[in-house]
Amino acid sequence: PATAAVIPAAGRGVRLGPGTPKALRSLSGTPMLIHAVRAMAASRAVSLVVVVAPADGVDEVKSLLDDHLASAGGTELLVVPGGDTRQESVRAGIEALPPGVGTVLVHDAARPLVPVDTVDAVVEALRAGAPAVVPALPLADTVKEVEPGAPGAAEPVVATPVRSRLRAVQTPQGFDRAVLQRAHAAVALSGEGATDDAGMVEQLGHPVVVVPGHEEAFKVTRPLDLVLAEAVLARRRV
Ligand code: CTP
Ligand code: MG
Repeated sequence: PATAAVIPAAGRGVRLGPGTPKALRSLSGTPMLIHAVRAMAASRAVSLVVVVAPADGVDEVKSLLDDHLASAGGTELLVVPGGDTRQESVRAGIEALPPGVGTVLVHDAARPLVPVDTVDAVVEALRAGAPAVVPALPLADTVKEVEPGAPGAAEPVVATPVRSRLRAVQTPQGFDRAVLQRAHAAVALSGEGATDDAGMVEQLGHPVVVVPGHEEAFKVTRPLDLVLAEAVLARRRV
């Protein structure tokens, strides 16, 4: 069965500051989304990439893909409109998958620099039988759980999880298609939000495994992340 990548790219990028939707902003002269599509198409396993565009930006995204990816190395490309939340956007991407797709990678457009080796490590773990796979890294910072208070006010600490047992998760997250579909259907019914696809699969009681992530798979969230991403690209070009 084929492997497809769904790329949610319909966010506004509020934390990056005012401007074009985040995925369409330029990174060293090329839109972030194009870097992300190339990263997925670079994996030999991926035969289809579904881009989930801002609902008012479907035509713009189609022409960006035409301009930058005259050939995506034989990888098929689809563009569908996204929703108001990441979860809804991912769901729109899943619904566009043709029959014959057995495994799905869900990859944030906001992680444009993920190395192909990380993508392949996720695919490998799926092939080895895991229904859900996430790339992740150990944390540098100790994490505190707090009782959230008013913004700016001191917050009481509730717990300090043992750092060595924590992992910060990245994308692409890989799934057996049926498992991912069931997880999204269950969450849509419950009405609860989720920031992470693997978390939804955990709630269904399916096992999720972690494989090593990569520093360069960091998420471009705030303005400083753009500086880091352009520095990584500059280093790749030398
Ligand atoms: N995303 C999406 N649809 C939404 C919200 C987010 O497809 N309604 C996508 C983003 O485009 C991004 C990924 O989900 O590729 C991860 O989300 P995030 O980094 O939070 O991006 P934004 O939501 O765009 O940023 P912000 O939260 O700062 O507005
Ligand atoms: Mg967001």
